[in-house]
Amino acid sequence: MTTWITVCDTCRFGEQGDRPEAPRDGARLAALVEAEAETREGVRTRRTSCLMGCTHGCNVAVQAAGKIAYTLGRFAPEADAAAAIADYAALHAASETGQVPYRSWPQGVKGHFVTRHPPLPDAE
Ligand code: FES
Repeated sequence: MTTWITVCDTCRFGEQGDRPEAPRDGARLAALVEAEAETREGVRTRRTSCLMGCTHGCNVAVQAAGKIAYTLGRFAPEADAAAAIADYAALHAASETGQVPYRSWPQGVKGHFVTRHPPLPDAE
């Protein structure tokens, strides 16, 4: 089953709030995540504008039908962060429930979890 990474492409990271120029940090992170996800089995990406977590950007959501979903934030638009997000999404894709044991988490996602959402009852 496909795990989708939804990247907010309008997020600002840290001090970018004072810098309105394009591209936004979220768009930079999205491009990096898209490149990483191409090599991860069962992972696809999409972009959206605002996940309503603007104060802790850059934000992404990790979702799959019938699985627990997560939002993660506070990512810098950097290659290491993108690789960790894609690695985590691949583990989510390989998990029957979407839960990934903490011992398996990529170091780069630790401390970035913001919310989790149980699957909808009719999707289990
Ligand atoms: S701009 Fe990214 S969450 Fe609002």
